[in-house]
Amino acid sequence: MTSSVVTVAYIGAIILFILSLGGLSNPETSRRGNLYGIIGMTIAVLATVLGPRVTAAGIPWIVGAMVVGGAVGLYAARAVQMTQMPELVAIMHSLVGLAACLVGFASYIDTSIAYTGAEKTIHEIEIYLGILIGAVTFSGSVIAFGKLSGKIGGKPLLLPARHWLNLAGLLVILWFGREFIMAKDVASGMTPLVVMTVVSLLFGIHMVMAIGGADMPVVVSMLNSYSGWAAAATGFMLSNDLLIVTGALVGSSGAILSYIMCRAMNRNFISVIAGGFGTGGGAPAAKGDGEPAGEVVPIAAAETAELLREAKNVIIVPGYGMAVAQAQHTVFEITRHLREKGVNVRFGIHPVAGRMPGHMNVLLAEAKVPYDIVMEMDEINADFPDTDVSMVIGANDIVNPSAQEDPASPIAGMPVLEVWKAKTSIVMKRSMASGYAGVDNPLFYKDNNRMLFGDAKKMLDEVLVALKG
Ligand code: TAP
Repeated sequence: MTSSVVTVAYIGAIILFILSLGGLSNPETSRRGNLYGIIGMTIAVLATVLGPRVTAAGIPWIVGAMVVGGAVGLYAARAVQMTQMPELVAIMHSLVGLAACLVGFASYIDTSIAYTGAEKTIHEIEIYLGILIGAVTFSGSVIAFGKLSGKIGGKPLLLPARHWLNLAGLLVILWFGREFIMAKDVASGMTPLVVMTVVSLLFGIHMVMAIGGADMPVVVSMLNSYSGWAAAATGFMLSNDLLIVTGALVGSSGAILSYIMCRAMNRNFISVIAGGFGTGGGAPAAKGDGEPAGEVVPIAAAETAELLREAKNVIIVPGYGMAVAQAQHTVFEITRHLREKGVNVRFGIHPVAGRMPGHMNVLLAEAKVPYDIVMEMDEINADFPDTDVSMVIGANDIVNPSAQEDPASPIAGMPVLEVWKAKTSIVMKRSMASGYAGVDNPLFYKDNNRMLFGDAKKMLDEVLVALKG
């Protein structure tokens, strides 16, 4: 393939990637978006492998690496549970960061192209920045993987002088950057490069360790953005235009997503990165002074069915527990049954429900719930006072009134779905345990709230039987 054919193929791939991102922004067009992405990537890989920069001797190596990488990817995609998707995404980001580091070192050691003067300086800056972003992405993503999979606790690690430590790290990186650029040869430039890599790895670990459980959505999308910039930096090192554009697309879309996540949680981006928000998740919430107290009123599946049958308006709010229980298909069956009986059933989706952006939308689309009854939080929040039953399925933090009522709450200020404003709210979960942010939920104790304890799938199956009976 000549270089002009490769250029044309690259432009085609770039257009397909942009169409892919456009398609992925809406559940109805997301399959098409995925398809564009697959075709674009196939063109990109073929054009690169068959292009003039790959020699015949290199092809078996590339094919071998693709077979191994493809097999691992195929296995991971098949084996991973929907609930483990964020961990998978985090570990994938770490690989992009690692690749940027390795390409950086390889292109520094490779002296086959003799750069001189300004060109040499620019190439070295590309290498230094590429390894810096790659190392932060790599170690940060490994820690994010640990936190999301529960291998590392969700509690933020707040070292006493953490901002000073970060500043010191930055100064070390700047100082050694100067040393690196001034170095006469590869041997003398290697020490500053290695020192910077180690400091960047530590910085990535420190940055994500300082972030609390509730802020993890922002961190994952931020690392997504970093992995894009790491890929773009690799593109600069390898003088590959396609990689630069693709990396920039991922980097900027990840940055926009981080911004959307921050807005959804009413958080300041800088303060998220500075760390310290949220606590460990999953444990039963401790009760202290000022904590919500009182009785919770349990309800049985048959009574739930009765309430639903008599309702005119129902809003279902799914959360992480629906994903764990894989209850979306039963949710769809119940929705269909109620709609056939003339009940107005709609869904309220919080932007950070579940464990990844769009988590609930994906599950509901998989279960064939019509898109037009799946509403965003802003579209539906005002409708709760006119709702007979709000049914919360395995959600907790996203329906926690303390976000509005308790300024001292760790989730204070986060917009939530106001399910308690419905005539009756029913919360379906297995116990009184807190959600991801580790915060107790006063919703459970409200007079108009009922608790349907049990696994969401099992309880919904019972509700469906009772509805049909
Ligand atoms: P959570 O607040 O985590 O609450 C989920 C609830 O589901 C838990 O309290 C749990 O209670 C219940 N549950 C678990 N398994 C269940 C099962 N089999 N059947 C029934 N219930 C079950 O979830 P949420 O309300 O969706 O909020 C999301 C949280 O995750 C937010 O804090 C958000 O910041 C964070 N987060 C989000 C993302 C993204 S991007 N969406 C990424 C990382 C973190 P029991 O144990 O009592 O059953």
